[in-house]
Amino acid sequence: MKKITIIGPGRVGESTAQIIAKAELCRELYLLGRHEGKARGIALDVQESAPLFGFDTRVDGGADAAAMVDSELVIFTAGLPRKPGMSRSDLVDANLGVLRGAVDDVMRYAPNALLLIVTNPVDVLTYHAWRQSGWGRHRVFGLSGVLDSARMASFIARETGFSVKDINTLVIGGHGDAMVPLTRYASINGIPIEQFLDADTIERLIEKTRQGGAEILALKETSSAYDSPAASIAAMVDAMARTRRRILPCVAILDGEYGQRDIAMGVPAVLSGSGVERVIELPLVSGESEALARSIAQLRETLSQQEKNNGK
Ligand code: 2OP
Repeated sequence: MKKITIIGPGRVGESTAQIIAKAELCRELYLLGRHEGKARGIALDVQESAPLFGFDTRVDGGADAAAMVDSELVIFTAGLPRKPGMSRSDLVDANLGVLRGAVDDVMRYAPNALLLIVTNPVDVLTYHAWRQSGWGRHRVFGLSGVLDSARMASFIARETGFSVKDINTLVIGGHGDAMVPLTRYASINGIPIEQFLDADTIERLIEKTRQGGAEILALKETSSAYDSPAASIAAMVDAMARTRRRILPCVAILDGEYGQRDIAMGVPAVLSGSGVERVIELPLVSGESEALARSIAQLRETLSQQEKNNGK
């Protein structure tokens, strides 16, 4: 890609910038923040690692939204992070306010960009960004399943002692406590995980996956996770920048898939140069459908609560 903008150079934004620059996923990277000095400082810090890592990505930062002009991809990481004890949906009103201004800026200065939403509650924010922009659903999507699936894969690797390279996992649904790790699709080099793990252990790892973000937040106390979220964003950017057509779980706008419309949630999708090329609808079996229905109900509750708060 020629140019990518990251809105919100907080910890996730900064870590993402470092990975994207190092992997040379674009020629120019702009970090847009509210505080000019902070955004410029972070950009300089990343830029000065270039000779050591050997990358030629040009990294700039600032508070000037107009500087995102010509971006092919805008990544939205701005807003408040969770504090211990908070759910992701507790952030909805505060972060929607930040999102609305950012979407206006993106539509004005980067009207042809793809828009990747990271800020929580990511499903709700992705839905609102899509509605506000009026863009095609392939252009507005969010991060959740890549991160949740990576967490699950790392737990399976630790439990079995096998290489993460061989582990495949798939988590769909909302990016909340009711997310749906699909163990039927979890395998180690094609071998179902049931071959190596008993039912109780699998259940424990599913719960650990659901609580993955909260566990880190509770331990760190003052910060949410940012290294694995940033690596997950970079995996999505890599799929787009290198037009790989990877099948990755993304927060996508549904248009009838899984029996849903007017909602954004984690589903497997084909991610490539033009964004979400296609949503993949998996046939779900008993147990999975009910779990997904619970996750959807939780998402719809947050969406309607937010609309009520705003007097709609
Ligand atoms: C997480 O799961 C912050 O939602 C993010 O860590």
